[in-house]
Amino acid sequence: MSGDVDGRLRVALVGAGAMGGEWLRMLAASSIAVPVAVVDLDIESARRTCGSAGLDVATGRSLTEVEDAGTEAVINVTVPQAHRIVNEQAMRAGLPVLCEKPLAPTVSEALRQVALANVTGQLLMVSQSRRYFGPLATFATVAREVGPVNTILADFFHEDHEPGFREQMEHPLLVDMSVHHFDMLRYVTDDLPVSVRCDAWNPPWSWFAGKASAVATFELASGARFVYSGSRATPGAETSWNAEWRMHGLGGVATWDGEKSVTLRSERVVAEPMSAGESIEGSLAEFVSCVRSGRTPQNEVRDNVLTLAMIEGATVSSSRQGERVVIRELLDEALIRALRDETREDVAAELQSWPDAVHGLSTTPWGSEPAIASGGAS
Ligand SMILES: NC(=O)c1ccc[n+]([C@@H]2O[C@H](COP(=O)([O-])OP(=O)(O)OC[C@H]3O[C@@H](n4cnc5c(N)ncnc54)[C@H](O)[C@@H]3O)[C@@H](O)[C@H]2O)c1
Repeated sequence: MSGDVDGRLRVALVGAGAMGGEWLRMLAASSIAVPVAVVDLDIESARRTCGSAGLDVATGRSLTEVEDAGTEAVINVTVPQAHRIVNEQAMRAGLPVLCEKPLAPTVSEALRQVALANVTGQLLMVSQSRRYFGPLATFATVAREVGPVNTILADFFHEDHEPGFREQMEHPLLVDMSVHHFDMLRYVTDDLPVSVRCDAWNPPWSWFAGKASAVATFELASGARFVYSGSRATPGAETSWNAEWRMHGLGGVATWDGEKSVTLRSERVVAEPMSAGESIEGSLAEFVSCVRSGRTPQNEVRDNVLTLAMIEGATVSSSRQGERVVIRELLDEALIRALRDETREDVAAELQSWPDAVHGLSTTPWGSEPAIASGGAS
């Protein structure tokens, strides 16, 4: 990779909506990446977003329209339904991708993207930006002193009024918000989800069309349980957007209020900010470093599928009156659907070559370290 004259990675931003604007403003001030093109199906939106970030760069309706911009990597901030299409265009053009969460609307679509990354040999990383927060890193560090762990509890209670797609979704809590909390659980514990039972419902006063409340219990590979409860329609005493956390184990208790307060056995622990930046800035820093070094990032596509599987497992369980859903079985059912739906011969052949889904998630064409241990989600 040549880089810009000053060594910054030349990126094209695809998706110039609300979150695309956030990304572009951050990129405009970045010392490690430089935006060279902005793409959106709505070209006026692409131009407007450039203007509001004070940038004059190539704009287009697709990556093909900006192929002269000298792009070295793509940041995909389109809606989840478009993620796979845009990721495919980029990776087939030989470009690594940093894609906003959630990677795909279903685990089956996510598996097709794992196969696509294998076929093209490109890096596909998912931006789970809430992983990049100093107090979360501190909580993860002190959590190791609590082990072996018995129970991890996370509570998220909010009164969210966000007219638009969130208020129309079937699972506005689990799919749009809990994706962060379930991913943070994986970051903090480094444990694997085995099964889930979930009850999701909508309180009678809710202004959401879908299920704004849920209680879910996950069994983890270590034997610990993750107990999650949340709602987006509960006025008063709101928790942090990051949820409120407690971890109980043989070594005592660690807590995190989701903001700056971390404790270990009731003693306050000082949390330092992350040196490479927080939120999407931290995500970008990890992506650029991995593009440069060939290292496998956290939330490389194979690993991130497990976060999506936790969400899908919870929604499936709630649709079956809280029945226990085994994550490994859910992954294998998703692989069958992926094989049924995939139309590209090379991607279909790759999916076909996997003995099962966990084996597919254990392959490592990008970087040298496995994203998950083989047999992980057992
Ligand atoms: N990490 C976070 O905290 C966070 C916060 C908000 C949104 N997000 C994620 O960011 C993504 C975008 O969310 P948003 O709120 O900006 O949505 P949005 O609807 O405001 O913007 C999406 C944009 O993508 C464009 N688009 C759709 N399909 C396209 C395609 N095939 N090619 C090019 N452009 C296309 C649309 O025209 C639109 O301008 C979602 O995945 C969302 O979950 C993450």
